[in-house]
Amino acid sequence: RSALVIGGIVAAAALVGSTAASAAPGRPGEPRYGAGADGAGDPYFPLAGNGGIDVLHYDLDLDYTPPAPAPAPLEGQLSGVATIELVATQDLDRFNLDLRGLTASSVVVGSKSMSFTQTGDELIITPRPKLKTGQSTTVTVAYGGTTTRPTDIEGALYGWVTTRDGAMVVSEPDGSSTWFPVSDHPTDKATYSFGITVPAGRTAVANGLLVGSETADGKTTWTWDAPDPMAAYLATATVGDFRLEQYTAANGTPIIDAIDSTRSANQVAALARTSDMISFFEERYGPYPFVSYGAIVDNDSVGYALETQTRSFFSGSAGESTVAHELAHQWMGNHVSPGRWADIWLNEGWATYSAWIWLEERGVSTAQARFQAVMNRPATSSTWNTVVADPGPLGLFGTPVYDRGAATLHALRVKVGDTAFFGIAQEWVARFGGGTATTADFIALAEEISGQDLASFFDVWVSQPPKPTVW
Ligand code: ARG
Ligand code: ZN
Repeated sequence: RSALVIGGIVAAAALVGSTAASAAPGRPGEPRYGAGADGAGDPYFPLAGNGGIDVLHYDLDLDYTPPAPAPAPLEGQLSGVATIELVATQDLDRFNLDLRGLTASSVVVGSKSMSFTQTGDELIITPRPKLKTGQSTTVTVAYGGTTTRPTDIEGALYGWVTTRDGAMVVSEPDGSSTWFPVSDHPTDKATYSFGITVPAGRTAVANGLLVGSETADGKTTWTWDAPDPMAAYLATATVGDFRLEQYTAANGTPIIDAIDSTRSANQVAALARTSDMISFFEERYGPYPFVSYGAIVDNDSVGYALETQTRSFFSGSAGESTVAHELAHQWMGNHVSPGRWADIWLNEGWATYSAWIWLEERGVSTAQARFQAVMNRPATSSTWNTVVADPGPLGLFGTPVYDRGAATLHALRVKVGDTAFFGIAQEWVARFGGGTATTADFIALAEEISGQDLASFFDVWVSQPPKPTVW
């Protein structure tokens, strides 16, 4: 009896959020059904992701009508059927998916229609029969609505961003729920397939490989397959007036670029260096981790680029430093993803540093000079007033995360030497690729590979605000 009570307390304490399980008492070995938590437990975005489920695959069938020409409102119409394969990680009488600004019209679990509700940005599903721990099932959600131009916690455009000729779909950190029902946290990676139906003449670009396109009755369905595990924020289904350019990189990776028809040769010139960049980063970080690569260059802008997995997104034009940055993210951020959003410096620091070393390779500037430029910033700079390993949800994409993150890596390289530094980079990708890792994992690995005690080094570089004076 007391063991049961303790078991109950442990089970409840493991859940995070306001819908923690109220498991009914039962005999040992019997299911103890409860509700999955309404979030994955990330303090920056408490309701992002969901407890009690592990999604394995999303099959997204989308039908999208972009806005009519101005002066019609800048609003699209999206309807979708998401077929989601998942496994229960606890005995569930209820679980959530994230869905924001769209309305579900039916939910089927297995082959039976289920009752469901939507509260805020949570889609709450009550499966019957209930799900036992380890049980896999398929959840099919039909949904839809009017698409607008969602913004993140900082006010930046993200998610399904409606444009006159389609949509820009870039969802970091928690914007995937604006276009499909999702367990929206990097710790729940899954594979994806897409069928995206758009007016004939428009192109829909998603992750992975193009399976084909079929046109009937004035509509074209674009089918894409993304078999590499992917964090939800890296999924895209960007729609526009694109031409596709396909070729094979020197390492054999199929490249598919989607270039908006209005882009000039100059605006996309740096993409010609993609193959060389892949080879350069492979030498340093290990094999390119995915089935394909390529860029989307849209005529519209969200104000930033995003490393959408296998198909980086660029707003308006693709400059060389940014092209290198987004490519490097495929290893650093996409294959190895942050365990918590507080670990974002491991994404942005590595991607920024990667652009530094690429520009050094090209003879533009040295990494040492870029490091020195950061160190020359005055003590009053935000660079020296931020804990980069915990920048807060409003500081995720701030300058300190990028530049002090990169400077931290350069200082580490100076401290441990090139062999250990690139050994750390390769082992980081090899050991944690396909999943997630945290700052603590990085520090432990750096100590393991270098054989040095790096506790105070990382303390002053990533855990304390002031400018480090020694490294
Ligand atoms: N990870 C992107 C990059 O550095 C930036 C994403 C910014 N996202 C946002 N919601 N503001 O390439
Ligand atoms: Zn980045």
